[in-house]
Amino acid sequence: MSFWTRFLNNKEKSIKPWNGLINGYRDLLDIDNKTKVITLCEGNTPLVPAPAIAQACNVAGLSVYLKFEGANPSGSFKDRGMTMAVTKAIAKGLRTMICASTGNTSASAAAYTACARANGFETACCVVLVPDGYIALGKLAQALVYGSQVIQVAGNFDQALQIVRQLSEKHPIALVNSVNPDRIEGQKTAAFEVCDQLGRAPDILTIPVGNAGNISAYWAGFKQYYELGIINAKPKMCGFQAAGAAPIVKGEVVENPETIATAIRIGNPASWQMAAEAVQESYGLVEAVTDEEIIQAYKLIHAGQGICCEPASAASVAGLIKMAQQGRLQRESTVVCVLTGNGLKDPQTALDVSGFSPVKAEASMEAVAKALNLG
Ligand code: F0G
Repeated sequence: MSFWTRFLNNKEKSIKPWNGLINGYRDLLDIDNKTKVITLCEGNTPLVPAPAIAQACNVAGLSVYLKFEGANPSGSFKDRGMTMAVTKAIAKGLRTMICASTGNTSASAAAYTACARANGFETACCVVLVPDGYIALGKLAQALVYGSQVIQVAGNFDQALQIVRQLSEKHPIALVNSVNPDRIEGQKTAAFEVCDQLGRAPDILTIPVGNAGNISAYWAGFKQYYELGIINAKPKMCGFQAAGAAPIVKGEVVENPETIATAIRIGNPASWQMAAEAVQESYGLVEAVTDEEIIQAYKLIHAGQGICCEPASAASVAGLIKMAQQGRLQRESTVVCVLTGNGLKDPQTALDVSGFSPVKAEASMEAVAKALNLG
């Protein structure tokens, strides 16, 4: 057999067509075959082995993987829920999407509404409410350039969510926050993928918690795979909130949440109850990590692993390292940390924490060699 025949045969085996998660997991989702799917081919994100993070945990035989959700089309896990929520809203005849957001939901809602316009629903439009001054610049830019109407609210996420809930009750508008069950339905596919990629369920899943929809969605996905007999054990769900925005950990609403991880700057999570059940049923935990711990993990994920995630995402790794330091990880266990969003959305934080300042030089070999102390 020639080299090229072998090459092409292997290529056929390794590259499978992927048409988005609704088409990929249709039999396991609440959707019928007639519904027109609004998709940007989201999902099928990499599960990356993370030896540097395993090493930082210093637990014998520990395997750590990062589920890199920043590889989704709009750069976060929200796309999983949004393909489902916008598909269903359009099928119901709704044309206006609305959400409150710390930045990623709004970017995703804006993207999928644009996708709906491209697929024959020209009148589809999107309104997003964001807390003024508290969303990463890239996320704001996304919502604007995808063509949504952006309203910067003089308040926090929790207040903005209350407003969009009221508006969507009064008007024929689709609320696409994770209080919409279609969002959870789409997001549970991340748990399916983790199991498909690992060939089993992990022992532990660590995940940042904000409005608490995603931890609930993963748990729904793991339970479904377990009930179908695809996996024979379920992971412990370990959720991490930022210390300044940790209502579930404290057991009370936080009126003025504060954290560097603006994506999870939430004081009254809508899916609080569902998240609490996921943690309890899975023998997991919800704990807090400080901004300092988040930043340490953020640096390790970037410089130590070569993966670009946003600060909120690093809470999952910060939480894992904390569990290791407290002696709460068993030897030989397999952990998946969910990296929820792409670091490119928040270049300001990257610049602030990198600790390096670029060196300027004349455009000559000598000048650059001198800047590098090459003599
Ligand atoms: N990580 C990132 C990057 C997020 O954007 C969010 C939530 C979370 C984690 C937490 O997920 O809310 O399901 O518990 N972002 C929402 C938004 C609130 O508006 O983009 P959760």
